Amino acid sequence: VTRTIALMTGGGDCPGLNAAIRAVTRIAVHEYGWNVVGIRDGFEGLIERRYQPLRPGDTRGILRIGGTILGTSNRTNPFKYTARGTAEPVDASEVAHDTLREIGADALIVIGGDGTLALAHHFAGDRIPIVGIPKTIDNDVHGTDYAIGFDSCVATVADAVDKLHTTAESHHRVMLVEVMGRTTGWVALYSGLAGGADIVLLPERGYTLDSLIENIERRRRDGRHFTIGVVAEGVAGPSGSPLYTSQVGDPWDWKLGGVCQVLARELASATREEVRTIVLGHLQRGGSPTPADRILATQLAFGALAALRRDEGGVMAGVHGTETALVPLERVATGARQVPADLPALHAADAIGMFVG
Ligand code: F6P
Repeated sequence: VTRTIALMTGGGDCPGLNAAIRAVTRIAVHEYGWNVVGIRDGFEGLIERRYQPLRPGDTRGILRIGGTILGTSNRTNPFKYTARGTAEPVDASEVAHDTLREIGADALIVIGGDGTLALAHHFAGDRIPIVGIPKTIDNDVHGTDYAIGFDSCVATVADAVDKLHTTAESHHRVMLVEVMGRTTGWVALYSGLAGGADIVLLPERGYTLDSLIENIERRRRDGRHFTIGVVAEGVAGPSGSPLYTSQVGDPWDWKLGGVCQVLARELASATREEVRTIVLGHLQRGGSPTPADRILATQLAFGALAALRRDEGGVMAGVHGTETALVPLERVATGARQVPADLPALHAADAIGMFVG
């Protein structure tokens, strides 16, 4: 039987979303003979009735392009929806279900991070089969080793760390790079390892200012006149709490940022070194996906459609090693997945002499 699959991307954009959209469309149409309808701008499109049929031809040439051709939004909650130009949030979940009925959707595939997948799971309930595909540069989705976008992000940050070595070494400076990752340190740890950073700070660990100062001073005593630190945006400042650039709305929407500047001030006055900071920001979410992300996106899209063909809903297609693993969305919707203390990459970082605080 022909089925119609509604497909949407939600949460922050990242490289590899288009690769997933392309694979879902090709497999659904060519392999299964199903129809795909793309929802525009995440939940916003479902509420505002913005959608478009997706044919394989619509996905031609998008494999290597970052972002999402469908658009996305990382602030839309169908249960608390504030339409543009209005002030009061309303429950728009019924309107969103009406749109799915209007489309004739038999199932919903949502490509999103932990927030979007939890929301989508709640929204779908037992009214429509739903399958999730994990994506986020933060890599903090439970139930999968890797989320789409993480590898590309790490490649971008590692490249930035490589380039910062030039000035750090030539001018004998301390350089602190502030990277994304929200409350987790996956991006900081992996890009610090890949870029050969001297210091990596993760929200999962904890550092003292004294230990940082001691580390920088020891390097100088050992004849290494520069230090590069990769700092996750969610790391607490010396006062013990994380720093924000904006605290408007739901705590989930608060924007982290500023920890490197505070650290730089403290470190400069304690060590007399020249300490500079750089915030990579959305550069980390941009650009072309790496081959690993393109392959992951294609594999997970296949896993998601295969689940629907077997009438398995309420799951996410994740990856464990090289295997695709279907994980109940209940297990996914349990907040951010932190870097575990026993992660082999973390042990390796400690063992090579990187300061991981
Ligand atoms: O979740 C992805 C992410 O890029 C986080 O790493 C970051 O804290 C946040 O989104 C930034 O969101 P926005 O694009 O809304 O500023």
